[in-house]
Amino acid sequence: MPFAIDVRDVTRTYDDLQAVSQVTFALPVGRTLGLIGPNGAGKTTLLRMICTLVQPDCGDVLVQGFSVRHQPREVRRRLGFMPAEFGSPRGVSIAEYLEYFACLFGLSASDRKARIRDVCELTELRGREAVLVNGLSTGNRQRLLLAKTLLHDPAVLVMDEPASGLDPRARNELRAIIRTLASLGKSVLISSHILPDIEDISDQIAIMEAGQLVLHGDLGSLQQAHADHRRSVRLKVPEADLARARETLLALPQVQSCQPADRGLSIVCDEADTNDLLAALLQAQIRITFFSESDVDLEQIFMRTTAGKVT
Ligand SMILES: Nc1ncnc2c1ncn2[C@@H]1O[C@H](COP(=O)(O)OP(=O)(O)O)[C@@H](O)[C@H]1O
Ligand SMILES: [Mg+2]
Repeated sequence: MPFAIDVRDVTRTYDDLQAVSQVTFALPVGRTLGLIGPNGAGKTTLLRMICTLVQPDCGDVLVQGFSVRHQPREVRRRLGFMPAEFGSPRGVSIAEYLEYFACLFGLSASDRKARIRDVCELTELRGREAVLVNGLSTGNRQRLLLAKTLLHDPAVLVMDEPASGLDPRARNELRAIIRTLASLGKSVLISSHILPDIEDISDQIAIMEAGQLVLHGDLGSLQQAHADHRRSVRLKVPEADLARARETLLALPQVQSCQPADRGLSIVCDEADTNDLLAALLQAQIRITFFSESDVDLEQIFMRTTAGKVT
C-alpha cells in the first residue's frame, strides 16, 4: 500500500525566498498528521503543493502513489483540500452551494442528492440547508467548507488552519468531526498553530520552521524521546507573583525554559530533582497555588525544536 501522502524533497521558492526547502516526510494511510509551525514557516505553501495548486520547483509529492507533477487529476480525485480562506457568495444557500460544487465534481443528480445529505449529516448541517452562506457564523462556515471538501468522498484530507477563528465549542465540534473522519479510515493532514488541538487529534506531528521540516514523527514516541532527559513542570501562582516566579526560575541552572501558559508557567528543566524549583520559589516567598510535574506536551516539544526563526 503506498503512503497517503509521500512528500519527496520538495522545494518552492518565491523570488529569492525559499518558502519550502527540501521537505521530505510520509503519512501512512489512515493516520492523522498535525503540521505546526509559526506564521510564514511555509505550511500553506507545502499544503498547496500537496494539493496540486502550487508546483514544486524540485522534488515531488505522491498522493496514494500518484504524482502531483505528472498525475494532478488523479491526485485531485483522491484528495480534498480545505483552504484557510473562503469566499462566500451572496444570496446562495448551503444546499445551492453544495449542489454547485457537487456538479463541478461531476457527480450524477442522484449521487449529488445522496452525497449532499451525507456530508451535511457528518458536519451537522442537516436542517440548515436553506440558510444563506454569507450570513453563517465562523463555525458553520468551517463546517460548510469541510462539507464541500468531502463531496467527492476523498480518501485523503488536507486542511489548512481549520480551527483558526473558532470559539472553544466550535473547536471541540470540529475536533469531533475530524476524529470521526479518521475513524472512517481517511488520512488527514491538518495544519494549525493551536497546539492542544493538534495534540488531541493527531497521531503524527511535523514541525516546520523557516521553510524547513525540523521534526517529524509519532506523537507518542516524540513525547517519550523528549521525556527521557527532561522534566516538565506546570506552576500556578497569583498574578502579582508571576513575573518574580519566572525570574526566580530562570535564574536556576537546571531550568531550560519558562513560558507563560494557562494562567501560570510551563517550565522545562533538566532531570534534576524538581524539589529544587519548589525550594527556590518558597525562598523567594512566592505563593504557589499549583505545582505539578507533567508529561511533556506538544507545546514544549515545539518550543525546544524551533528557534523562533522567520523567513
Ligand atoms: N504567492 C506568494 N508569493 C510570494 N511569497 C509568498 C507567496 N506565498 C507565500 N509566500 C511567502 O512564503 C513564506 C511562507 O508562507 P506560507 O506558506 O503562507 O507560510 P505559513 O502558512 O506557514 O504561514 C512567507 O514568507 C510568505 O510571505
Ligand atoms: Mg498558512
